[in-house]
Amino acid sequence: MNIKNKIFIFINDLYKVNARTNIFYGLSRNDDFPLGNYVVKYIIFHEKELNHYLNNSDNVEINNFVKKVAGYSTERTIKTVIELNQYVEVDATLVNELYDLYEDFLVRIFKTLYSNISINLDWINRLVMEHQLKLRSILGTIDELRLFSITKRFVEPIPCSEYSVALQLKILNINIEKIKEPILDFGCGSKATLVHYLRKIGLEAYGVDRITNDKLYTIQTDWFNYELKPNYWGTIISHLSFTNHFKRTHLKKNGNYIKYARKYMELLNSLKLDGEFYYTPNLPFIEQFLSPKSYKINNYFLNYDIQRNREPLDIMSVRIKKLSKSDE
Ligand SMILES: C[S@@+](CC[C@H](N)C(=O)[O-])C[C@H]1O[C@@H](n2cnc3c(N)ncnc32)[C@H](O)[C@@H]1O
Repeated sequence: MNIKNKIFIFINDLYKVNARTNIFYGLSRNDDFPLGNYVVKYIIFHEKELNHYLNNSDNVEINNFVKKVAGYSTERTIKTVIELNQYVEVDATLVNELYDLYEDFLVRIFKTLYSNISINLDWINRLVMEHQLKLRSILGTIDELRLFSITKRFVEPIPCSEYSVALQLKILNINIEKIKEPILDFGCGSKATLVHYLRKIGLEAYGVDRITNDKLYTIQTDWFNYELKPNYWGTIISHLSFTNHFKRTHLKKNGNYIKYARKYMELLNSLKLDGEFYYTPNLPFIEQFLSPKSYKINNYFLNYDIQRNREPLDIMSVRIKKLSKSDE
């Protein structure tokens, strides 16, 4: 196997081993770098092979390889982070900062190897340490990661469950006989369970989620990057996904709720006339401003709780219908 493929396998292994490693652990101790040792060892061990590759490739090839590795590492870091806490928001600044960090790290190592300077253990240790400190500081700007204790070597992910079809339909009060196509499940979950069920019974359904194992009917993207066609969808569904994040952002200090409000209006605008948006939790702080001439809002208590003799939660499910002229 050539060194290029080996590096990608190494990166994969690195992320698997470190999926739960706390990068903020030992923040006060300069000598403790939980992620760095593997990298140092790998570079030292593969120095000759790397050297051979660099001396037998032209600059375009090397630059392309650096870009590929930097892009892949950025993607894997983001995936790791959103799997630890589903509420982390990924914007272009974060993506670019991570990409530049990985690119710079690789360029520095490759430049040294290219000049046939033998890797010095102190130098590589320092480089990896610096890289890791910069990574910590980039990830340290994310509120949702700072909530992990720095005293624990490993972190426990914030729960992000996926629910059965029966539960989702019940909570959202969806009558499957009357559901209108095409259907979009916005934040459908990695398994896209509801989308698959709707497809199985012959309905045209699609999902959007930034984590997905399904490539058939699901588009893997951040929901802010998914452009919604106006007047297109018969039904949009968001079960504990988009509106849950919107509500949380609304309550959060410094939350970017404007971005959510815009996307929420884009979702409503993408319903065709008579189309319906089903979601939970409810968003009373924005629903109150919708024109009753354009939208009919129905709220439902979560009868799941009532049946279990529990106090209903302070959240509801909502169905918003986009009104046609004849409904007014
Ligand atoms: C609690 S799960 C609910 C999944 C599904 N609706 C269900 O009820 O089983 C929330 C989903 O929202 C997705 N999600 C969170 N933030 C997202 C974003 N910015 N863009 C796309 N999907 C996102 C997560 O990946 C996760 O699959």
